[in-house]
Amino acid sequence: MPRIAVLVVAAGSGTRLGAGGPKAFVGIDEHSILRHALRGVFAAPDAQVIVVAPPGREGDALTEALEAAGDRRELVSITTGGSTRQESVRAGLHSVWADVEIVLVHDAARALTPPEVFARVIAAIDAGADAAIPVLPVIDTIKRIDGDLIVAAVDRAELAAAQTPQGFRREVLDAAYDAVEQDFTDDAAVVAEAGHDVAVVAGDDRAFKITTPMDLGRARGLVEPIAPASVGISRNAAAPRVGIGTDVHAFGGTGSLWLAGVEWPGEPALSGHSDGDAVAHAIVDALLSAAGLGDIGSRFGTDRPEYAAAHADTFLGRTLALLGEAGWRIGNVTVQVQANRPRFAVRRAEAEAALSAALGGASVSVSATTTDGLGFTGAGEGVAAFAVALVLPA
Ligand code: CTP
Ligand code: MG
Repeated sequence: MPRIAVLVVAAGSGTRLGAGGPKAFVGIDEHSILRHALRGVFAAPDAQVIVVAPPGREGDALTEALEAAGDRRELVSITTGGSTRQESVRAGLHSVWADVEIVLVHDAARALTPPEVFARVIAAIDAGADAAIPVLPVIDTIKRIDGDLIVAAVDRAELAAAQTPQGFRREVLDAAYDAVEQDFTDDAAVVAEAGHDVAVVAGDDRAFKITTPMDLGRARGLVEPIAPASVGISRNAAAPRVGIGTDVHAFGGTGSLWLAGVEWPGEPALSGHSDGDAVAHAIVDALLSAAGLGDIGSRFGTDRPEYAAAHADTFLGRTLALLGEAGWRIGNVTVQVQANRPRFAVRRAEAEAALSAALGGASVSVSATTTDGLGFTGAGEGVAAFAVALVLPA
């Protein structure tokens, strides 16, 4: 059992970054802030890793954590965060395993923190400190102000800028969180409030927090690429990329048929964990593969309860968000359905409009064909869909 746990808080909304989605999933290169943060975490010694994710994004956090974990997948778990950083840490603390002695709390937003910083913090705790945090000297001359007037100079030699990971003896952190009443912006403050000394170790310039768009630009200039899990996709190439996706579902579901994002009353339903919309699923795979973001199985965990009975708009909306966060926009999507029924001719425009709306207005073409009675589609056992997508750097 690991004696160390690392809590990666990634549940913030990223208001100051203003990227249109939670900060942890914003791309630095083709990999997200969270994925880069996890590289540093997994470079540290064997530790339990708890990612605290924004509500509704637990599945995405799990995907990234499992990818980063490599052969240490059993050490990973995901917890849903709270409305403040402190509440998110508190939520994560509930998942720390019984035998853990040292807890490190790390901001996902400090995505480029090198493993040496983790090692220095752990070493300080091992040497007897109850709490230890990385700090950097303050560079700017600091003033105390009141309104628009300086009221005092502050000797910057007495000051330090706090970073993460912040490390604690487990019982010290647990007790401090049980007792705390105020809201603090870091864990050292929570533990100090409980009366403990907090030691400092050397921080690192690369452990800066990505807060503003300028910080993200700095990270983009510094990042060392992560070897991709499958194929190499470089957004820097600034070139369009194509992707392909296919899907098959058998008839035999309950309720009415959902296909190509529209309901077909009176037609036999397709079976599947979701609504069985093979057209939507083929489009998801085409878009994800074009962007090098894996596939529907790895991105959506189709066994997850939130996708039970989900319709095309859920899958396509999330896919659009994933693409946006990774720096891609959709060029166009073309999908062909192979099926004896339903008859698409009369509702083609409606299906295209529904799929397009779910993809933020992207151009979607739908065509349909039969197979002259051959194969499983010809025998009326199910439908097949084949999609091609083009994506462009945003
Ligand atoms: N955090 C969290 N839960 C919250 C708020 C913040 O887990 N409710 C995490 C963030 O994901 C981040 C770290 O705490 O990794 C530091 O927070 P900050 O940089 O302030 O991130 P955000 O709160 O997302 O950004 P902003 O304050 O600009 O909205
Ligand atoms: Mg914040």
